[in-house]
Amino acid sequence: MHTIFELQQLLETAINKVEYPAHPAKLYEPLRYIMRLGGKRIRPILVLLSSELFDKDAADAIEAALAIETFHNFTLIHDDIMDNAPLRRGQDTVHIKWGVNNAILSGDVMMVEANKHLTNLDSSVLKAALNCFNTTAQGVCEGQQLDMEFEQRSDVSIPEYINMIRLKTAVLVGGAMKLGAIVAGASDQNAELLYNFGENFGLAFQLQDDILDVYGDPAKFGKQVGGDIISNKQTFLLLKLKELANTEDQLKIQLQETNTDLQSKIGVITSLYNKYFIRELAMDEMKHSLDTAFSSLTQVSIAETKKAELIHLAKSLINREH
Ligand code: IPE
Ligand code: IPE
Ligand code: MG
Ligand code: MG
Ligand code: MG
Repeated sequence: MHTIFELQQLLETAINKVEYPAHPAKLYEPLRYIMRLGGKRIRPILVLLSSELFDKDAADAIEAALAIETFHNFTLIHDDIMDNAPLRRGQDTVHIKWGVNNAILSGDVMMVEANKHLTNLDSSVLKAALNCFNTTAQGVCEGQQLDMEFEQRSDVSIPEYINMIRLKTAVLVGGAMKLGAIVAGASDQNAELLYNFGENFGLAFQLQDDILDVYGDPAKFGKQVGGDIISNKQTFLLLKLKELANTEDQLKIQLQETNTDLQSKIGVITSLYNKYFIRELAMDEMKHSLDTAFSSLTQVSIAETKKAELIHLAKSLINREH
C-alpha cells in the first residue's frame, strides 16, 4: 500500500501528463487552468486509496481517479456560475476570466474528458464503473438543482437540507470510493459499505464547507467568505438559526434576505450565528455524520490495519481550513 503522500504524487504526475487539444484555445484553456489550480484532490485520492484497500495497485485505478477529479472540477465551474462566485482556490473563477458562455462549454467538454478517462479502464470492470459514475453524476445534478431551488424558499427543513447535500456533495465522495472498490474487484458488499462510509463522510465534509463559508480565514479559504449568506443559501447554519431564534431575531433574519448592503448582511447573520452557538451545533451534526461513516468502515471486511491511512485522512479533512 502507498502512503497518502505517495498517492498525491502519483496523481499530480498523472494530472500534469493529461493532454487536451490545442484548439479552440478558449475551450481548453479553462480545463488546464482549473485542473492545475490545485485543490485538495480528495476524491481522486479516495479512489486510489479504495483500490489499494482491496490490493489493487493505485496505478491501475489512475484513470478512474482522473475521471472523478475531472468531473469534480467541471461541477465547480458550473457551480461558480450558479453561485455567482468570484473566487475559486484563491484565483478568479472560470466564468470571470472567460465569460459565462465559455465556462458552460468548457464545463461540458470536461464531462466528455471524464468519460474518456473511464473508457481506459479494463473492460472487465468498465460496465460497473460506468454505472457507478453515471449514477453519481446524476445525483450531483439533482442536488445542485435542489440547492438552487432552496434559495427561493423559506420553509426548507433540516432533513431536506441533508438530502440536498447528500446529492450535491456526498454521493460523489461515496461514488469515488465505490469506483475504487469496483476497479479493484471488491465484493458488492464491501463496495457498498465503502460507499456508505464515503457518503456519510461527504455529509460531514459539506457541513464543514458550510461552516468555513462563514468562519473561514479569507487568506486560506480560497473562496469568498460569506458567499452562502449573500445568496441566501439554506445551509445547516441558517436553518438551525431559524429554528432557534426568538421572534425579534426571526424578523432580523427575514429582513436580511433583501438587504443589498452585503457586508452588513454578512455581519448581522454572523453575529446571530454567534449568539445562538450555531457553529458548535453544526460541528455536532458533523461529528454525528462522521461517527456513522466510521461505523460503516468498521464493517468493511479487510484487515483493520489497512484502514489506518483512510481514517487518518478523514480526520485531517474535518480539521481543514480550506
Ligand atoms: C468543493 O470541494 C465543493 C464542495 C463539495 C464543498 P473541495 O473542497 O474538495 O474543493 P477542492 O477541489 O479542494 O478545491
Ligand atoms: C458544492 O457546493 C457542490 C458542488 C460543487 C457540486 P458549494 O456551492 O457549497 O461548493 P463551494 O463552496 O462553491 O466549493
Ligand atoms: Mg458554490
Ligand atoms: Mg453551490
Ligand atoms: Mg460551499
